[in-house]
Parts: sequence; C-alpha cells; structure tokens
Amino acid sequence: MNTKNNKDIRKLRTQVIPNGYASGTTCYVESAKGAIIKDVEGNGYIDFAGGIAVMNVGHSHPKVVNAIKEQAEKFTHTCFMVNPYENAVRLAQRLTKITPGDFSKKVLFVNSGAEAVENAVKIARYYTKKSGIVVFDTAYHGRTCLTMTMTAKVKPYKWGFGPFAPEIYHAPFGNIEALKDFFVTGIDLENTAAIVAEPVMGEGGFIAPPDDFYPQVAKLCKENGILFIADEIQTGFGRTGKMFAMEYWGVEPDLMTVAKSLAAGMPLSAVVGKAEIMDSVHPGGLGGTYGANPVACAAAHAVLDIFEEENLLEKSKKLGEILTAKFNKWKDELTIVGEVRGLGAMRGLALIKEDGTPAADEAKQLVSYCFDKGLILLVCGIHGNVIRTLMPLVIEDDQLQRGLDIMEAGLSELEESFHELERQ
Ligand SMILES: Cc1ncc(COP(=O)(O)O)c(C=O)c1O
Repeated sequence: MNTKNNKDIRKLRTQVIPNGYASGTTCYVESAKGAIIKDVEGNGYIDFAGGIAVMNVGHSHPKVVNAIKEQAEKFTHTCFMVNPYENAVRLAQRLTKITPGDFSKKVLFVNSGAEAVENAVKIARYYTKKSGIVVFDTAYHGRTCLTMTMTAKVKPYKWGFGPFAPEIYHAPFGNIEALKDFFVTGIDLENTAAIVAEPVMGEGGFIAPPDDFYPQVAKLCKENGILFIADEIQTGFGRTGKMFAMEYWGVEPDLMTVAKSLAAGMPLSAVVGKAEIMDSVHPGGLGGTYGANPVACAAAHAVLDIFEEENLLEKSKKLGEILTAKFNKWKDELTIVGEVRGLGAMRGLALIKEDGTPAADEAKQLVSYCFDKGLILLVCGIHGNVIRTLMPLVIEDDQLQRGLDIMEAGLSELEESFHELERQ
C-alpha cells in the first residue's frame, strides 16, 4: 500500500505503533537533503533538529550515500565476532586518532548511544573492580534499564519503568565543591568506579559547565582511581565547534562514548578508551550481533572524510557565532528569552514566563508555530522550556536565515501574548 498522505499514515500509525513511541511532528518524511526535509505531501521543512544531533554532515550527503551503496553491494553483515572485516578496524584506527588523549586507545563498536554507555559502564566496573557509577542530576544517557537509571528526568523517561539498576548515584552538576561534598553524603570515592558526564548537558537543557569544572572533575578522578567517562554522544562530531567538546577544556577522558553523528543516521556507536582499560575485559565479554555493522562503518568513514574535506569544524564555529549573536539579541530584546545556553552550534534558549519561572507551554507553542511555518525545532531541559538547535552543520545561509526568521516571528508572537495578558 502506498499512502502518500500524512493523515492516512497517521491513522494507520495509531493502529500499529504504540503510544509510548511518540513523534514530535505530524508529517511523514518522503526525502531529506542537506538541512531540508520533505514530507509525503511535498511540504518542505528546514531542519533545526538533525534527527536529534545525528545529521551534522546533512541529510543524504552524496559521499555517505555512495559509501553505503558501495558497501551494501559487497556485503551487509557477517557479524564482526564471526567474520571480521577491514573497514571496522580502519574506522577504529581513525577514531583513536581524532579523540582527545595522546595515549594508546582501543574501540568497541556497538549500535546505539545507550548501548555504548552500557558498555562503558561494564568496562569501567570490570577494570576498577568497583561498582558505583556517578552521573549528574541533569544527565541523559538513554532508555535501557541501566541508562534510564543514569538519566535524571523522571517523566517521561523513568516513570513507571522501575525497578532501576543499582549503584547509580546522581550528583550535582557544575560545581566542584558540591561534587566533593557528594562524595561525603552520596557515595564514597573508594566505591566509585566512574563518573559519567556529558560535556554539555543535552536533554537536560543544553547546560555548559564553568570552564574549570571538567578539568577539576578529571583531576579528582585521577587522584582517586575513578575513571572519567565522557558521554560525547550528542556533543561529538563537530557539534560544538570542536570535534569533541572535551577539547575545549583540555580534558582527556579514560573512556568516551560516541554515536549519533558518527555515522550520519546509520546505527553505530562506540566506546573509545585507553587501551589498558579496554583490554582488561576477557575475550567474549563484550560484543553484540550487529556491532560494527560494515554499512554503518562505511558511512562513518564517509562522515570523517567529509569533516576533513569540507572544513566542517570551521563551518560549525561560524554557525555557532551566528546562533550566539542572534540568541543574545533576542535575550536583550525579549522578556520571554531568559537565558542563552550551550556551546558553539549546540545552542539553546531557555524560555521564561514574566515571573522568571520556566515557560514549558510557551516552548511547546513555539515548536508548533515553527512547524506550521516549515521549521522543525526541538525542546529539551528538565523543565521542558529550552529550545535547542541541532541543525546540520552544512545548512545553507539562506536556510539558516529563514529558520531564524521563523523562530523570531514565533518568539515575538509569544512575547506579544505576554503583553496582551498584562493589558487585561
Ligand atoms: C548524551 C547522550 N547519551 C546517550 C544517548 C542515548 O543514545 P541512543 O538514543 O542512541 O540510545 C543520548 C541520546 O539522545 C544522548 O544525548
């Protein structure tokens, strides 16, 4: 059956897809190219979401498409644990070179972000022979039992899904003294295997820490035999203007998790870490049927080629500057914009009500307004009031401008409704 109509597909969807697997938009995608998504009815949308930080190189980049086609014609799966292949080994080699840390590294490939975090925790516990895992109180690490336990926000991620995994401790984010106190009241340093941290909180609200926070966290870890695991799943691959956000602070994590923009939408994630730690686990202790899928690895090679050949980090830096300037202007002019958040092109706007409290309903209204005008936006934040931008780094100037104009018009309308209320 070929139903080229959003309404009909929506109707069918309600019969066959569970409610829990909800979508932010009501249109159904027919194709996507660069920073533009087209639905089955031919409507075009400027994409400021990038499939949640996955499409940094843009939708259907020809180099990615060709790499996928070429690999698919050779073979699509043998299982790396049964018949290994070179493109995964070469990709591991590339990842060891581009990730922070001038030391010998090894790479474990798995499929999703959550699976990478799960494996980083397994490896850290194995290596340290300790069980405690410290995460932050605004963290998001996934939806599996372990990673939803590590995730901070209860609704919708954890609500009703307990019991949760043991030995996960949520510490305050962004203040080293508060973190040190946590090791008095929350868990002791001796029992802590690892601290797992997003460089910039993603789902938690695009919160960047003070510049000295992570260097001090890494030092605390080193002094106490605790592994420092950077979850660069959302921040990685140029999102913030550097290949990995930890580079901003000169921090070299013991282990890193990467996923999302690594393979431009093909399911691929990895744990990249110090060789000694990665090698501590016995043969067969790590793995999975689809890990290091050859088609996904081919796509990831193309992504890394694109970064090298098309100067994407430079583009990301420029994009970050444009977004920061525009968002700061809105903050100066509009009372609804309470705070400009994030780092580089990973930018967020915290919307607030007149009394300074989080404006979650207004954030939803803005997303809906923008969608009606042809712009796809995402919210985040523990209060659901942060608008975040994760557009492809290859977005063209006029597409970016049009998207920002739509956002501005939506924000002005919301601001006007505040004034309207005041006048009543
Ligand atoms: C920082 C971070 N870690 C982990 C995950 C989980 O990744 P996945 O949805 O691929 O399991 C996400 C997804 O948004 C993320 O942003």
